[in-house]
This record gives sequence, structure tokens and C-alpha cells, in this order.
Amino acid sequence: MGKKYYIETLGCAMNVRDSEHMIAELTQKEGYEAAESLEEADLILINTCSVREKPVHKLFSEIGQFTKRKKSGAKIGVCGCTASHLGEEILKKAPSVDFVLGARNVSKITEVIHRPKAVEVEIDYDESGYAFGEFRTSLYKAYINISIGCDKQCSFCIVPHTRGEEISIPANLIVQEARRAAQSGAKEIFLLGQNVNNYGRRFSGEHPKMSFTDLLRAVSEIEEVERIRFTSPHPLHMDDEFLDEFAKNPKICKSMHMPLQSGSSRILKSMKRGYTKEWFLQRAARLRETVPDVSISTDIIVGFPGESDEDFEDTMDVVEKVRFEQIFSFKYSPRPMTPAVDYEGQVPEEIGSARLARLQARHNEMLDEMKGERLGRVYDVYFEELRPGGRAAGRSDNNWLVQVEGSEELLGRTLPVKIVETSRLGNVGVVVA
Ligand code: 5AD
Ligand code: SF4
Repeated sequence: MGKKYYIETLGCAMNVRDSEHMIAELTQKEGYEAAESLEEADLILINTCSVREKPVHKLFSEIGQFTKRKKSGAKIGVCGCTASHLGEEILKKAPSVDFVLGARNVSKITEVIHRPKAVEVEIDYDESGYAFGEFRTSLYKAYINISIGCDKQCSFCIVPHTRGEEISIPANLIVQEARRAAQSGAKEIFLLGQNVNNYGRRFSGEHPKMSFTDLLRAVSEIEEVERIRFTSPHPLHMDDEFLDEFAKNPKICKSMHMPLQSGSSRILKSMKRGYTKEWFLQRAARLRETVPDVSISTDIIVGFPGESDEDFEDTMDVVEKVRFEQIFSFKYSPRPMTPAVDYEGQVPEEIGSARLARLQARHNEMLDEMKGERLGRVYDVYFEELRPGGRAAGRSDNNWLVQVEGSEELLGRTLPVKIVETSRLGNVGVVVA
């Protein structure tokens, strides 16, 4: 009987891809197979996120649970951003953990599983040229890293301390990986990085100059690639050349993530975001003008230190003006090693909660208004998974989740679908071709 792994992935798409890389290394180089349950596993991995405080607290109670449930002799590894952040401390606090593997040390997975109490969290480690084994959770969609780390120093964000300095992955490796994935049926390519539209600023070693816009063009030239998505871009780097390519390249899906964080220019300055409320509004307006059907999603933090009622009203004003199709909203969470943790004017918990509730309630109203606009319209939907009740699900080019009656024969195909039922998040349709 082969050895079995069980992996839990928290956090963002970068973590999802890191988990895929670890699975590839374990299955192809160490003979592991997937376990059906945690109880059956010989190796349990928790791929963690440290962007907010709560999940970090929860990690230790989870390790306790896993320790009770695991079979005797099974190893537990803590990986990802919290591993980078806490390192050795994890072993001290949770002696049942066998190793700690940081978010920038993923390629060392095959080594740490053999080294009791290993801690590999080197922040300067460069795996931008490492050829990982192949594993994809979805047959129809391929996540591809285009850079590691982040050079932005947003004053609230721990990521520069967990994923380190930004390094772009050479374009020829990205194009090769995209071609291989698309040829094997993953016609949607999802390019990933902390700051994708800063691509090409720094490579490890000598590489031809290349911008994110150039990279988008190169990937779209691969015949088998039908759709390209990417996350996360930074509003500051949304220059005209990038927005024009986004608008006119038919393979680029018309959904854009524009992380606002705050609508107040004063708070944006203290967050070190590099843009103002006016810049953001002007970029969003240009995007809506050039791509009328675009969906815009965003991230917003409320209760950042120093945020007054007036600052919060500025955030609400941007929400009214841009009419985001999706908002991920968070209450500010003080993170160690970040400048904002020491800022004056920490906002009381109740005020943060009240602002968050107001933002979410208003946005829900807006979503209710928007859903009527989709009814009866026809969207091209790329089907990627089966759902219970004899349904297949996929996304429209502009990222609406759509379900229709159907089975395997729809998967991996793009078909026109008329929307017959809508709710805030999901839609039901019928294939009209
Ligand atoms: N507190 C709350 N939210 C945060 N984010 C990042 N750092 C913090 C923090 N300290 C949010 C940002 C980011 C998203 C991934 O998480 O909105 O875009
Ligand atoms: Fe979480 Fe950020 Fe790390 Fe992703 S990069 S796992 S969001 S801390």
C-alpha cells in the first residue's frame, strides 16, 4: 500500500497553486497518493494564510484536532504564509507538528518530510526557475504562477514578510506551461501573482525585458488557450496600454479585480497604496467605458487606523460610483511586522463592525439591483465542474457563476447560455445553442 497525503488549503489562489505543487512533488517523486480522509493519511499538510489574525489563532486549535484524529505515526506539516511568519515558534507551541515549510520554500517539500522537526522558511529562497512536477485540481483550468513575493509595502500587509521579495518567473517557462496545460484540456489559463501587472520588474538572472501586457499577448497567442484570467493586479499599474490590451484581446476574460482597500485619499496615503481616490475612479471609469460588459471586483478594508467617519464615507462613495460586481470586505486586522500596527488612531472594534455591516448591506442592495439586468441575457459559459442534482457549472466571460442542467458532455466546452433565474451570487440558465 502506498503512502497517503491529506492537504488542507487556506487563503488565496497562490496557496491553491502551492498546494498543487506540493501534491505534484509528493506523488511524482515520493510515491504518495491522495487519502480519502484525514484519518487515513500518513502525511497531513496544512497550507496556511496569515493575512488576518483570526485564522492564525484557529491554526493551533486545528493542529490539536488533527493530532487527535490522525493515525499513529502520521506526520503533520505546517506550510504557507503562517509557517513563514512563525517558523520555529510553531514547533514550540505545537509539539505534534513534524515540520514547518514556508510559502517561499515549496520545492523543499520532498526534503522536509524526511527531516524530523525541519524548519525551512528562508525568505530569500529563489524558486522562480524550479521545474515543479505537474498536478492540477481541475482538468479544465490551469493556475500558473507568474511571480513570487511582493515588493509593495502596503502598511497593513504581512505578505512581503511571508512571501518575500518580488521575482518574476521567466516568460518562456510561463508560456511553455500554459501551452502544455491548454493542450491537455485546460483551455482557461489563470495567471497568478501578488501583483501581476508589475510583472517583469525583476527576474533572477538575465531575461529579456517584458511587461505584463506583453505576457498577456504571448499567452493569448497559444492556439489552444481560449480564456485568460489573472489575479491580483494593482490599480496603480493599470496604465492605458494594459487597459487597452485587456479591452481588445478577445481571449482575456472581461472581469477585473481592482483592490480599492479604501476610498479616502488620506487613508490610501497612510496605507502606502500609491494612488488616490480620483485615480482609482478615473481608472474604473475608463475600464467601464472601454469594456461595457466588464465585471469589477474589489477588496476593501474598513477600520484602518485613523479612519474617520468622513474617510469611510469616501469608501462608500467609491462603492456607489463604481458599482462593483463583487466586494471582498474585511475589518482591519493588526498584523505583526507591519507599520500600521503601531499607527495611532486604532479604530474601536464596534465602529469597525458597524462600518463593515453598512458596507455589506449597501452592496447587497446593489447586487439585488444588478441581478435583474442579467435575466434573459445570453452569456458564453465555459463549463468546468459538475454539481449535485444533474447540473454542470461554469463561468461567463465576465465571471458570473452559471449552472445548467447537464453532465460530463458539457465539461471543457464554452456554450451560449440564457439566464433564466438569478440570485446575488449564482445564476441558472439554459444552453441555447
Ligand atoms: N487586515 C485586514 N485585511 C487585510 N488584507 C490584507 N491585510 C489585511 C489586514 N491587515 C486584505 C486586503 C487584501 C486581501 C487579500 O486581504 O484587502 O487585498
Ligand atoms: Fe494569505 Fe496573502 Fe499568503 Fe495568500 S499570500 S496565503 S492571502 S497571506
